[in-house]
Amino acid sequence: MAHPFTQLQAGLQYLPGFLGRSAQENLVEILRDAVKKAPLFTPCMPRTGKPFSVRMTNLGPLGWVADRDGYRYQPCHPDTGAPWPPLPDELTGLWRNVTGRADSPEACLVNVYNDNARMGLHQDMDEADQTAPVVSISLGNTALFRFGGTSRTDRTRSIKLQSGDVVVLGGASRLAFHGVDRIYPGTSTLLVNGGRLNITLRRVSAPT
Ligand code: SIN
Ligand code: MN
Repeated sequence: MAHPFTQLQAGLQYLPGFLGRSAQENLVEILRDAVKKAPLFTPCMPRTGKPFSVRMTNLGPLGWVADRDGYRYQPCHPDTGAPWPPLPDELTGLWRNVTGRADSPEACLVNVYNDNARMGLHQDMDEADQTAPVVSISLGNTALFRFGGTSRTDRTRSIKLQSGDVVVLGGASRLAFHGVDRIYPGTSTLLVNGGRLNITLRRVSAPT
């Protein structure tokens, strides 16, 4: 059965409670395993070198990294040089379910927020394929998620994303500005040390 969703604005779908507790716990377990092979790293802003307040890792054929050389996708971990761990079937299945696409994500970025972390307003622009949507999964403490239009000065709105919620940025919202203003401590029991995990699934390569 199709899960109920709300269209927050053209192309921006919100699927509250898409993942139940056991599916969330299973994903956390998968990510714990992945981090053993692909340790979390702290990205930095290319021009200023300022570190992000989130830590990251990736799964799948390509991973997103940010350092003094810029923002890009690459097949290997920036510190270990090893390929990213494989994308689990659970995430490929979720991607197909929520997008209706038959392909698989090429990249799965995992953002790890402590309760003080945030993410500034930005667009997801580093993908050669900007026709495919970006699928975002929230786990752990609630986040205040801000979204707007395709211009930085467009009016924005905010919603609270809870553990198990899924958001799809596609169509007219594929290049919508978005960010996370704050995490609400103590709002979920999923992660023993608090904080929040966000998983984004993406296509990267230009369609052939
Ligand atoms: C992101 O834009 O990469 C993350 C968004 C989120 O954490 O909800
Ligand atoms: Mn983003």
